[in-house]
Amino acid sequence: MSDAPALTRAAPPVAVGQPLIRLRGVTKVYGTGEVALLALKGIDLTIAAGEFVAIMGPSGSGKSTAMNILGCLDTPTAGQYLFLGAHVESLSRDRLARLRRRYLGFVFQGFNLLARTSAQENVELPLVYRGEGAAARHAAAAKALRSVGLGGWEHHTPAELSGGQQQRVAIARAIVTEPAVLLADEPTGNLDTRRSQEIMDLLRGLNTDHGITVLMVTHEPDMAAYARRLVHFIDGRIDSDVLNPHPVEPGLPAGQAR
Ligand SMILES: Nc1ncnc2c1ncn2[C@@H]1O[C@H](COP(=O)(O)OP(=O)(O)O)[C@@H](O)[C@H]1O
Ligand SMILES: [Mg+2]
Repeated sequence: MSDAPALTRAAPPVAVGQPLIRLRGVTKVYGTGEVALLALKGIDLTIAAGEFVAIMGPSGSGKSTAMNILGCLDTPTAGQYLFLGAHVESLSRDRLARLRRRYLGFVFQGFNLLARTSAQENVELPLVYRGEGAAARHAAAAKALRSVGLGGWEHHTPAELSGGQQQRVAIARAIVTEPAVLLADEPTGNLDTRRSQEIMDLLRGLNTDHGITVLMVTHEPDMAAYARRLVHFIDGRIDSDVLNPHPVEPGLPAGQAR
């Protein structure tokens, strides 16, 4: 097979437990001179395939900055980022874009769906960018929507869906490419408690049943309680990094598992 089609298929499988992400001494400076702001002051973080990590910490502590670097949406000012052993900071723009498309899925607080565009078309979009044919796109998007509990809602536009449903469409869009890693920055920030718990159940299922590594930013302890590892940021540094001995279990409301 030539190289071109290989670039359009899903990422090769990543074995559970394999080192996936390694940050070493990562710093990030925004701006220059008098207005320069040191948002990350030297982050060391290793994440293995199959983990479910919650990144917590106060507003302004560098969580989103770290997520943008982890998601290859931004580059460190200094330090190293290794993804499956590849030095991300030295990849060309094209290779970086390919890494993002093949391995990473993104979910944001504000859903970021195209308005006046059906759920089905929103979910198909990453496959359009990847050059998939229409039949394969339709089938993959329908499957992704079913896996987030939205079978039958394919033709609804975001305005016709609740906030929780919109976020589930966004999650379907993130997983339609079968990424190794799902990066979610405050995915429940715009949702009430019940919808938030549904989204967390969904993320946990993607992690445990589909083997997707999940990195999620949240400032809500009830949502972080679903994760198996808790990383706390304070003032641009990792303040603590601990396992969660009792993640919220399926079928129990948040809080009852602890
Ligand atoms: N694009 C940017 N330009 C300048 N400063 C920024 C930018 N993004 C974030 N910052 C600053 O960097 C620090 C960390 O921000 P951020 O990573 O968004 O924190 P968090 O997600 O934990 O709330 C904050 O002081 C914020 O104001
Ligand atoms: Mg943030």
